[in-house]
Amino acid sequence: MENKTSKPEEIIVLKNINKSFGSNVVLDDISLSFEKGKTTVIIGPSGCGKTVLIKHIIVLLRPDSGRVYFHNIRIDNMQEKQLDAIRTRMGFLFQGGALFDSMNVYENIVFPVRQHVKIKNREKLHDLARTKLAMVGMEGFADAFPAKLSGGQKKRVALARAIALSPEVILYDEPTTGLDPIRSDVINELILKLKRELGVTSIVVTHDMTSAYKIADRIIMLHDGKVAADGNADYIRNHSSPVVQQFINGQADEDDLRALRAPGSDIKISDIEQ
Ligand SMILES: Nc1ncnc2c1ncn2[C@@H]1O[C@H](COP(=O)(O)OP(=O)(O)OP(=O)(O)O)[C@@H](O)[C@H]1O
Ligand SMILES: [Mg+2]
Repeated sequence: MENKTSKPEEIIVLKNINKSFGSNVVLDDISLSFEKGKTTVIIGPSGCGKTVLIKHIIVLLRPDSGRVYFHNIRIDNMQEKQLDAIRTRMGFLFQGGALFDSMNVYENIVFPVRQHVKIKNREKLHDLARTKLAMVGMEGFADAFPAKLSGGQKKRVALARAIALSPEVILYDEPTTGLDPIRSDVINELILKLKRELGVTSIVVTHDMTSAYKIADRIIMLHDGKVAADGNADYIRNHSSPVVQQFINGQADEDDLRALRAPGSDIKISDIEQ
């Protein structure tokens, strides 16, 4: 029976996660819990470990030490075969979209379904693809190949694929990067819609603060392998830490400025745009 006074369920829990690549310490004793049905946005400078962090949640990377739990079940030490079942319950929208160029939109969407659930019935697969495409406003594109789609359309198809198995959790890695503000806002609205209509738990990595403020129940900033700030949009906006303020206001730090002033760094825009 549901107990209305009980705490909300923590669907994903990371406990004391450490991860280094050689001498590069990326995650330094990170502990975080994610509440069911909420949207958490992860921000932080490029290279600070956002992608590495969310890859631990779906166990595409394993921690050097620490534990990852999904519905209170430890998953970081599971065999690939057991993980398959867990991964059907989590959708992952990769940084850059990553559609299979040799497959049309329909085949891209049903790929995870064939792989994990082994549905073979053509009609069922077509129905499923149609429903998911309708959810992202891409009806009628089933036969198109990715090369013919715009950046925003590709992201929407990648999202349709990420939700193909009706996951409980969706991990988004920079879903709006490279999109103009209007197309970015379509993705924001889709993330909000999936939460509202399906009760999905979302974890979204982004550099886009407009998007973060619009969709987040909670924003976590990573910096130097640690959690630098963790709270709602207002809390982050008014955070006293200069590191947080500098990031959310998009100011270059001294390191960046030094790089720009370095000899040989007088790159002209005309060189880049060739
Ligand atoms: N497989 C890997 N092998 C070695 N180093 C890695 C690997 N994956 C990531 N790293 C390193 O870990 C650090 C964090 O990388 P990550 O991709 O998580 O950054 P990020 O915060 O997602 O950056 P961006 O905003 O640019 O996507 C970087 O220094 C990166 O070089
Ligand atoms: Mg990344």
